[in-house]
Amino acid sequence: MKTIYFDHNATTPPAPEVFQGLSEWAQAWGNPSSIHQSGRGPKSLLRWSRTQISQMIGADPLEVVFTSGGSESNNLALKGVFYKLKNTERNHYLMSRIEHPSIMKTAQFLESQGAEVEYIEVNRDGVIDLEKFAAQVRPTTALVSVMLANNETGIILPIKKMSKIAHEKGALFHTDAVQALGKMLFSVKDLGVDLASFSGHKFYALKGAGALFVKRGTPLEPLLHGGGQERSRRAGTENILAIASFATTREKLNLLEAKILEMQVLRDELECQVLHRISGVSITGKNGKRLSNTSNMVLNQVDGETLLMNLDMDGICVSTGAACSSGSQEPSPALRAMGLTREEAQNSLRVSLGWNSTREDVLRFCDVLEKVVTRIRQFQPDHRNSQQVSL
Ligand SMILES: Cc1ncc(COP(=O)(O)O)c(C=O)c1O
Repeated sequence: MKTIYFDHNATTPPAPEVFQGLSEWAQAWGNPSSIHQSGRGPKSLLRWSRTQISQMIGADPLEVVFTSGGSESNNLALKGVFYKLKNTERNHYLMSRIEHPSIMKTAQFLESQGAEVEYIEVNRDGVIDLEKFAAQVRPTTALVSVMLANNETGIILPIKKMSKIAHEKGALFHTDAVQALGKMLFSVKDLGVDLASFSGHKFYALKGAGALFVKRGTPLEPLLHGGGQERSRRAGTENILAIASFATTREKLNLLEAKILEMQVLRDELECQVLHRISGVSITGKNGKRLSNTSNMVLNQVDGETLLMNLDMDGICVSTGAACSSGSQEPSPALRAMGLTREEAQNSLRVSLGWNSTREDVLRFCDVLEKVVTRIRQFQPDHRNSQQVSL
């Protein structure tokens, strides 16, 4: 039985070009900071990678700081600005309520260090009220951080408009673009942001390389002190293999427009079939602007974890929320913040398609989902009773 992998928002399989490049990149084993000959290969690989990635995101090469991934980029953006502006009048931070835990937990940390943190509401369709947001930005706001695309629902947020509003009051703007890269067309210059986070493994590269776009002149204290790598913005010998794999995926972007449409056709067919064949299903964020690969659905009376395990037994990999928070009993805070009840959030399933997903995969997924949901619902009343007894 072929495994159907519909969890591309959690991670992606490395592209064939990555496997092909590995042995060549591994030959460049020297330290890129070495002045002698063994440093030349890795140094030029690093320079080439920086150029590729800067072109992928629409930045200048020197505005790219390599990190270990999205979580580190988000930490560096928020803490880096906080430590730099700590002793100024700008001590107010604004985040949307649907950010990834690497933003949410960092925001809580900043609060514990004396920052004033406030949250921006997002409704069930993924819409932010821009007038309300404008009123939240203060003359003391240091940084606004809002993701470009949400990992759980695929909802796309109006970053260009929001960064303009923030800048009018002199605040900096960071966007977590981890889910957006390779799933929608954008450039950091066009978005007008000061900082933007990226992660290679979300777009067919190896794990262990990410990037933070830092617009020239943006105040940022490093988190890692040591050597002068990354122009002293992130110390440590660079992870050349993972960085080169990230850079290699640039070629794929030439196909992006076609792939966006291809995935949209598949995703729309999947949603259409599910809504037609299974009762009591609603799609979260359906009325808003979404990434074309993502679908987040609430299946009434079907516990997400139970569903996930049953689908897994049938060879289908999906997610019930952010992969990073699976294992926790709490329903997704981002879905709850969008107005879903606790039960709705618990009954949510995330399906995220990839560049190699096919119509056959979609049709088999729909067949299996219908079968599994019917089976789970049949047992639902007993399940409920047993839960009541144990309470
Ligand atoms: C929106 C978003 N930001 C950040 C991250 C963290 O990225 P990484 O796994 O590279 O640390 C993720 C991963 O799920 C994500 O979806």
